Amino acid sequence: MQDNPFSLDGKFIMITGASSGIGREVAIWLSKQGARILAVARDLPRLEETLSLLHGEGHAVEVFDFLNANDIAGWMKRLALTMSPFDGLVHAAGVQSPMPIRAMALDHWEKILATNVTSGFCLIKSFRQKGVYRSPASIVMLSSVMAQVAQPALMGYCASKGAVESMVRAAALELSGEGIRVNAVAPGVVRTEMAEKLKGLVGEDSMAVIERKHPLGLGEPLDVAYAINYLLSPAARWVTGTSLVVDGGYLAE
Ligand SMILES: NC(=O)c1ccc[n+]([C@@H]2O[C@H](COP(=O)([O-])OP(=O)(O)OC[C@H]3O[C@@H](n4cnc5c(N)ncnc54)[C@H](OP(=O)(O)O)[C@@H]3O)[C@@H](O)[C@H]2O)c1
Repeated sequence: MQDNPFSLDGKFIMITGASSGIGREVAIWLSKQGARILAVARDLPRLEETLSLLHGEGHAVEVFDFLNANDIAGWMKRLALTMSPFDGLVHAAGVQSPMPIRAMALDHWEKILATNVTSGFCLIKSFRQKGVYRSPASIVMLSSVMAQVAQPALMGYCASKGAVESMVRAAALELSGEGIRVNAVAPGVVRTEMAEKLKGLVGEDSMAVIERKHPLGLGEPLDVAYAINYLLSPAARWVTGTSLVVDGGYLAE
């Protein structure tokens, strides 16, 4: 074990959802810890903004829409061949898309599941291809406290995050022999665009109620980045198949 087991020095890590919120902050923080980052999302100007905020050398951006699930395997293989195999993957791309059940059409439900769950399955499956990863490797998927509890108008989101946590457990068992750990982080409400959109939908008063359910207040993206740093690092070498709750005490009540 190296001197600092929390170090990510020299590791090459793909971060999805890196154009915004948690993914962007994770990219910035991990770059400060010595990691080389491949930042992925759909919006190139915002990815380039993330790139400009990274520390160190050798980072890159990639535009990809995770609704194109069939293309993920070939795309990841090409990236690993042209850049280098990955030491880690953080899947922070996701949507919340609140909608009451009475108004939710099937395509709305399917888009949430495709973005939050099917993309994760394809990324995990693609990551374990020969030549794409370097063992020991670590995958971290973004879950949410909504995997365990619920809020009105979030049935699709809650179902998707429950699926992410189940998927993580199953993948961890199957990939342990290949030197790949698979975990989730489950944040409470974190101050990002996703939380801003939620506030726009439920209103200031309901958001204040949600905030009061967090004994330590709402979280910042950096709070989640620290947890992800741990799960990616050698310090977590005996941790797989679990979900690390980072929620300011939300689930304690
Ligand atoms: N904020 C919270 O309170 C909170 C709490 C618990 C869990 N989480 C989870 O944390 C993750 C990040 O959330 P956030 O708050 O950072 O959200 P955010 O600021 O809205 O960012 C979402 C990211 O996902 C990307 N994305 C969405 N759909 C995509 C697609 N089809 N293909 C590729 N990229 C896509 C977006 O990039 P482009 O638009 O550029 O593609 C963006 O970078 C999500 O999984 C979320 O469920 C958030």
